Amino acid sequence: MIKLEDSYKRVHDYLRISITDNCNFRCTYCMPDESYEFLPPSHLMTPDEIFQLAKTFVELGVKKIRITGGEPLVRKDFLEIMEKLSELPVELTLTTNGVLIDKYLDDLIAMGVRSINISLDTLNPIKFHQITKRNQFHKVLQNIQLCLKAGILTKINVVAVKGEVEKEIHSFIHLTEIYPLHVRFIEFMPFDGNHWDSQKVLSASEMMQIAMEHYEVVKLKDEVHETARKFQVKGSKGSFAFITTMSNHFCFECNRMRITADGKMKNCLFDKNELDLLTPLRNNEPILSVIRESLKNKKPFLGGQFTNEFEKTDAHAIVNRSMIKIGG
Ligand code: 5AD
Ligand code: SF4
Repeated sequence: MIKLEDSYKRVHDYLRISITDNCNFRCTYCMPDESYEFLPPSHLMTPDEIFQLAKTFVELGVKKIRITGGEPLVRKDFLEIMEKLSELPVELTLTTNGVLIDKYLDDLIAMGVRSINISLDTLNPIKFHQITKRNQFHKVLQNIQLCLKAGILTKINVVAVKGEVEKEIHSFIHLTEIYPLHVRFIEFMPFDGNHWDSQKVLSASEMMQIAMEHYEVVKLKDEVHETARKFQVKGSKGSFAFITTMSNHFCFECNRMRITADGKMKNCLFDKNELDLLTPLRNNEPILSVIRESLKNKKPFLGGQFTNEFEKTDAHAIVNRSMIKIGG
């Protein structure tokens, strides 16, 4: 079988599947407004459809699958989906807001899940409520502890919005000194309705300066295809990293593809084009040609919609879904 290569010779072996656009939080940078209408259930992929699509991708060389949302754990049939996927010969992992992890952790471990990414943008409970509109800060922290106790490779995703995150950088890094936690600061990215503007981007180099005010930092080796530039405070148990999409993209190494909860393939987080995989799957039509077609049109970087001169980027000129509809 010919590998999933795009026209820039990038081999694609990592698939991110969103299983729902629903969430038990209401973060404004992700879900544009309270009147957001969730996808009707008939538009969502069923567990079996998710499995069929994933299996096709695995046959085409995919080695890693990340389950995302919305919040993937709010799906009632979450375990059924994971059980099916765990039959495939892939590294299976997920990104979650962490609230429901305690309910599923033992099952996930039994299925072979070894790493989990948890989104947490603040260590201040009041601010947590402002961001998420929910009072679940302590629950998320407890669940992070549970993951650590269980030996799960635990990464914390922090969306770095300028003016919001600066004061917390030291505290997040401090966590990596005392726990084997991996904190990743993600430069704030533009999506439909998230009020992005270039003034709100705190770049990795600005964050690094703040980090170095307090800490003696060493560079860690970045793996191939790793989107995070990793560092460590000397002698600490964990690490911290920056995901530099806005100031220094890593697209020339890209190996990722996405499927939205309604079964559309996106060849890039920022590509405005989507190709429907679910309808042909439901009609028993071939999907291989659709997958290859999608990859053939993949742009060299950032979906062809902007560049790393993010100061000049006009959010209104970017055509995309909101984050909750794409899946993180
Ligand atoms: N910019 C950067 N990161 C974002 N995420 C969601 N929206 C944005 C954004 N606009 C993060 C989520 C999740 C990860 C998949 O992406 O917090 O952890
Ligand atoms: Fe890949 Fe697009 Fe992300 Fe770049 S922005 S790393 S091309 S998915």
